[in-house]
Amino acid sequence: MKKYLFSLITVIIGVAVYSFDFDKNKVDGRWYTKEQVYLGKEVFLNNCASCHGQKAEKTIEWRKTLPDGSYPPPPLNDKAHAWHHPKWQLMQIINKGGAAYSGKMPGFENILTNDEKEATIAYFQSFWGDEFYKIWKESRKGLEAKK
Ligand code: HEC
Repeated sequence: MKKYLFSLITVIIGVAVYSFDFDKNKVDGRWYTKEQVYLGKEVFLNNCASCHGQKAEKTIEWRKTLPDGSYPPPPLNDKAHAWHHPKWQLMQIINKGGAAYSGKMPGFENILTNDEKEATIAYFQSFWGDEFYKIWKESRKGLEAKK
């Protein structure tokens, strides 16, 4: 009996330590961890920054069409439109690119893993102010699954 009790206590402590660590790594109030932001930065710099800028800040004049009628890459920080899309939709854009609306963004469906794609979202969301993140999470239902 004592042996079982001992194992049980070990498991409880283990779970407690694990959840504590896990929470500690979560960025305050956000869905992602610091590790996801680190990974996302690397993936973003290698795959996205040439168009969207190193800090997801390009292009400032994202509303103005290019000579060929297409739109330039919009900033993915909180200065443009990205915070209007729930997470599943952001994933869809990253997977399929801009083809659906005659855009120029390439799709990354078979180029990046899902973990890498999610991490890029964590990275550009790390440039969102808390007030935008809150609107995204609550009124835009950012974390809701696709219906
Ligand atoms: C060749 C340039 C290019 C690259 C590389 C690129 N994008 Fe884009 N991205 C665009 C353009 C242009 C748009 C606007 C839609 C369109 O015209 O395709 C866009 C739109 C988006 C949007 C929608 C933003 C909104 O406000 O609606 C997201 C999210 C996005 N890109 C994420 C990424 C991520 C993450 C990567 C890297 C994995 C990436 N993009 C790589 C050019 C690019």
